[in-house]
Amino acid sequence: MSKDFIAQGLEIKENHPMTENRPFLMLAPLQGFTDVVFRQVYVRHFTGIDQAMAPFISTMGSRHLKPSRLKDVAPDLNTALPVIPQILGNNPEDFIYLGDYLFDMGYGQVNWNLGCPHSKIARKERGSGLLPHPDKIDVFLSRVIPAMKPSLSVKIRLGRHSKEEILDLIAVFNTHKLDEIILHPRTGEQMYTGTADVDAFEKAMKACVHPMVYNGDIVDTASWEKVRHRLPAVRRFMIGRGILSNPFLPEQIKGLGAADFPNNGNQVHERLKCFHTDLFNSYKEVFSGPGHLIGRMKGFWSYLGPSFENSRKPLKKLLKSNSEQDYLDRINEFWDMNLKFRPDR
Ligand SMILES: Cc1cc2nc3c(=O)[nH]c(=O)nc-3n(C[C@H](O)[C@H](O)[C@H](O)COP(=O)(O)O)c2cc1C
Repeated sequence: MSKDFIAQGLEIKENHPMTENRPFLMLAPLQGFTDVVFRQVYVRHFTGIDQAMAPFISTMGSRHLKPSRLKDVAPDLNTALPVIPQILGNNPEDFIYLGDYLFDMGYGQVNWNLGCPHSKIARKERGSGLLPHPDKIDVFLSRVIPAMKPSLSVKIRLGRHSKEEILDLIAVFNTHKLDEIILHPRTGEQMYTGTADVDAFEKAMKACVHPMVYNGDIVDTASWEKVRHRLPAVRRFMIGRGILSNPFLPEQIKGLGAADFPNNGNQVHERLKCFHTDLFNSYKEVFSGPGHLIGRMKGFWSYLGPSFENSRKPLKKLLKSNSEQDYLDRINEFWDMNLKFRPDR
């Protein structure tokens, strides 16, 4: 372990925006949801998010980059919200190649996905599949960091099989120059079951020389308050599913005052309706067939819908729609019911 690296890490920690007083909120990468279309539309209707991480791009074995796979991070489409591209892979040469390519597109930092829990990916020692192998992570970082043009952050879980894996991982990360570590405190095998382990996050943070970003289960104001009080030293938070189920959540967290649900019913509905229409029209422009469009919109409703009171039946109907017209008819019926938006129930 090089002392220089530790010293550098500590220096980064002290100079980091974590020392500022207000929370810095990052939109989590959610493959199939928070792509560039969503990100652009979201910031047209809501405030409070400071930065987004794009869903992962896999390294491309042959080094023959397909430009279509980089469309999501095209700089001209990502002007409204600062974005960090994320890379999934375990081959250092391919990672450096893609990282440098992204740097030349204008990205000074890329993120390494070490958290993807899906067994198909983990089996190939990618995503959370690498977490039981801190030695391999060490070799990878030793090769990639000095050679790659952009700086690097990592997004991790507590481990693949056990949350005890985290301390050996942190010991390795401490010896490398990283911008920050985003930790979702579950194991890979847990997928999304159980609860995010805030105590384990705190333990990892105490052992870590790098700035850490908390991510996991911030789904409403109550869970936000709990995490904030439990981790007062953390200033950077990443939120994923909570924003899909309540797009106002970042405004609520930052006290931007626009989402006083009980007293502001009409305005809340109007903003959600406008957001939905913009999202629908924007996806309609990019998807070739109605199947993709309706599929994507239903995905969003599976998160947003349950935040409305008594929405079970109309939502079930909505999720069964199988043509564009059918979908639009059911959406109109849904809005006409004027169900109360109660994400904080
Ligand atoms: C549908 C879905 C897709 C995801 N895609 C990615 C991804 O591309 N990269 C990544 O690092 N994490 C991905 N995640 C994990 C999230 O970024 C985040 O770590 C996780 O959802 C926990 O945060 P939350 O409780 O705020 O949602 C995904 C999660 C979900 C549910």
